[in-house]
Amino acid sequence: MRRIKLPVHIAFIMDGNGRWAKRRFRPRGYGHKMGVQNMTKICSHAFKLGVRIVTVYALSTENLSRPKEELDELFELIRLYFGKKRDKLIEMQVKINVLGDISVLPEDVQNDILEVTEETANYSEGLFNICINYGARQEIVRAVNAAVSYGRFVDEASFKDLLSTAGVPDPDLIIRTGGEVRLSNFLLYQAAYSELYFSKKMWPEFSRRDLERAIENYSARDRRFGNVKGG
Ligand code: FPP
Repeated sequence: MRRIKLPVHIAFIMDGNGRWAKRRFRPRGYGHKMGVQNMTKICSHAFKLGVRIVTVYALSTENLSRPKEELDELFELIRLYFGKKRDKLIEMQVKINVLGDISVLPEDVQNDILEVTEETANYSEGLFNICINYGARQEIVRAVNAAVSYGRFVDEASFKDLLSTAGVPDPDLIIRTGGEVRLSNFLLYQAAYSELYFSKKMWPEFSRRDLERAIENYSARDRRFGNVKGG
């Protein structure tokens, strides 16, 4: 890539697995399987390019109302990648953190997730946030209730510390694949000044080169954070 301004934090909405599979006359579960493979490929590439933080929307709170058969397939993929295939995550050599309410997962999968986060806790070069059963509105309401229960008023800084992304800088760039142009309850508080990039590619076909194009596009943008140029 030519000389560019790299985002510190990229977040991905990995949409389009189902449609990608359907176009190939394959079941949706196959799309998710290829989606996770692409997740490790694209996120590794982001870290190789020098991005420090990557966050992925693996399962939204609302996804939990999908048919049981599809949810079972998604849970099996989570079991696989935090279990037998955890090397695929660990070899990225970044700290892995899971955001969201994982109490909906089987207990052994919750334990596997804990083990992977412990095994990677000392990697300090990069941070990989995987959002599972995550919803931004739920996260905000939980934070408000926490503040109320502590009996204190919050300001922006102390409120951020009550979110699941406490201590993590906001995403500079949010990339959504699959052609839809919305945030779907992802990082709503943190996305206040994120640059948004929408790709028509389905997630399993989003390539390393597509990621580079998105970063190049980001790099050419003028981020003013509500200020004026040079202000
Ligand atoms: C959106 O595609 C994608 C999802 C709901 C799930 C994404 C999850 C993964 C890639 C796997 C996560 C696994 C681990 C181990 C972290 P869609 O099904 O909504 O696609 P569609 O819009 O074409 O129907």
